[in-house]
Amino acid sequence: MSSKTLKIAALAGDGIGPEVMRAAIQVLRAIEKKHALAFALTEAPVGWAGIDASGQALPDATLALCRASDAILFGSVGLPDRDPTLPKEQRPERAALLRLRKEFALFANLRPVQLPKALSHACPLRPERQGDGIDLLVVRELTGGMYFGQPKRTEEVVEPGAPGTEPRRFQRAIDTMVYTTPEIERIAHVAFRSAGLRRKKLTSIDKANVLENGILWRETVTRVGKSYPDVALDHMFVDNAAMQLLLRPTQFDVVLCENMFGDILSDEAAALAGSLGMLPSASLGATQDGVTFGLYEPAGGTAPDIAGKDLANPIAQILSAALMLRHSFGLEDAARSIEAAVGKAIADGLRTGDIFNPGEPAAKKVGTRVMADAITAAV
Ligand code: IPM
Ligand code: MG
Repeated sequence: MSSKTLKIAALAGDGIGPEVMRAAIQVLRAIEKKHALAFALTEAPVGWAGIDASGQALPDATLALCRASDAILFGSVGLPDRDPTLPKEQRPERAALLRLRKEFALFANLRPVQLPKALSHACPLRPERQGDGIDLLVVRELTGGMYFGQPKRTEEVVEPGAPGTEPRRFQRAIDTMVYTTPEIERIAHVAFRSAGLRRKKLTSIDKANVLENGILWRETVTRVGKSYPDVALDHMFVDNAAMQLLLRPTQFDVVLCENMFGDILSDEAAALAGSLGMLPSASLGATQDGVTFGLYEPAGGTAPDIAGKDLANPIAQILSAALMLRHSFGLEDAARSIEAAVGKAIADGLRTGDIFNPGEPAAKKVGTRVMADAITAAV
């Protein structure tokens, strides 16, 4: 694949999106030279940037660009101050991000969480709980469950009051958690295959003691597991998993979750890796003819409080670009070059504010640009 020009749609979005995207593009340009690749990177507005440019969180032209591209490199969308001014269906999270996930059937979200030894100081856990470093992969189902299940609405309810009194009026919000066996099977296959390439351990998360969905999830994952005899499968209730992540994170290799549980546990896991600013993610569709279309984005948000101040950690965006090279383009060496360059910047003591701890000897607090330049130079 590397001989042809790889078309990348770069959608920076809002908040810190543009500055961390700039950093990722800079690193990709260095990779292009080093590995003799050709990237055709096209930037397009999304989120509030899209609304301000052409009235839609996902402008038609941006969607068309995505369709014509080999992969999407995504920043982040949504501004909590402005979001409530729009009807909820038009807000950036739903109208851009969730729409893209659904539009391209990106059902498999991979979130690798790594706490290198060098970042031990940034981890909220005591060193003895960190073992030799934390290294796990959250595989999150991304197009089902409560995020998309129908019915999904807020309705007005009128209940007759006691005789002679006014009726009671209130609102009721409904979200629906729904999964089918094919949806569970396809994400389970992704998780088992991922575990097979790692330490061969899969922990499947559910709430089978309460939810119908949990029971179906557990049965289906167990059945799929019969095809992967070399992977050790265990099951854990989601509440226990939230606790185990804090008590003994090193017990996990691959963690498989439905959409909402994965959203929550991946943020928790990211905190173990020092910061949400370190967590990249790949959202993948089905592989067709050896090609996997994907959207690659940091797991963190727009962080409007620090936007435009050269404070944001660009590493999650840069590592998301590495995941793009690996999963959509099959460029393992180039992906590793990026990961090694990030590793070097960290080993050299460079720290953005989110991973800086004044107690750490030889750590240097730097901004987005200096971090991006150091990583680019290390490529
Ligand atoms: C994530 C984010 C999104 C999600 C939001 C921005 C809609 O939190 O990617 O984890 O909930 O999936
Ligand atoms: Mg989230």
